[in-house]
Amino acid sequence: MKKLMAANWKMYKLREEAKLTAEGLVKAVKDSLPQDREVLILPPFTALRSVRKAIKKAPGFALGGQNFFPSMQGAFTGEIAPDMLLDMGCTYALAGHSERRHIMGEADEFVGQKVTFGLERGLSMILCVGETIDERKEGRLEEVVRRQMDTGLAGVPADVAPERLTVAYEPVWAIGTGLTAGPKEIVEAHGLVRSILQDKFGAKALEMRLQYGGSVKPENASEILSLDNVDGVLVGGSSLSAESFSRIVTA
Ligand code: PGA
Repeated sequence: MKKLMAANWKMYKLREEAKLTAEGLVKAVKDSLPQDREVLILPPFTALRSVRKAIKKAPGFALGGQNFFPSMQGAFTGEIAPDMLLDMGCTYALAGHSERRHIMGEADEFVGQKVTFGLERGLSMILCVGETIDERKEGRLEEVVRRQMDTGLAGVPADVAPERLTVAYEPVWAIGTGLTAGPKEIVEAHGLVRSILQDKFGAKALEMRLQYGGSVKPENASEILSLDNVDGVLVGGSSLSAESFSRIVTA
């Protein structure tokens, strides 16, 4: 199983900057990318084409969408369909990122519709889950992650190809804050995520990838990647520069 090293560029970068960052990254890792790593770039929609061109000939690189609306097409002003992402060369998409849950108010059920529909249309899906600081303090980590996964994965068929479903554990209090969950917290949460996947998918759950996200940096990446049940990272801030993300990707 290849570790999935994902760069979530959020609402950053115009086309030229996106192109330069992607080219810089390809150049920095082309001779040093370990065989067991896959690099995924999730740029804003407007930069998908530029990044696609920059990574076209780079082995081990993939392109993804940060979001979509779960429908084929239709009167959904401002939205984008999975087929439009596929048409741009995307093979992956995120669902349930905490910024969409907390800023855009997306509910668990809606996130679940995206996971089901994205898989149906042919995208590999990354379901993001994670607790807020208050939920953690109230001892509700398990309840929250279980609810987000039960609803988020409710429509996923039992025969899903395991490499097409990834769960990213991203504690909300660690995203963009500089605070990283400690090894003990990560191992505990990832063990929980794995056991929920096993209840749902049986042995196949062992072939699904679990990413950690939340202030991953070049300095902490290799320790995080060495932990049990960590099969990749989802990186925001430190993925914006080719220099820092290349160090994470090869950590
Ligand atoms: P961060 O973001 O690395 O800036 O904390 C992670 C994410 O939002 O996926």
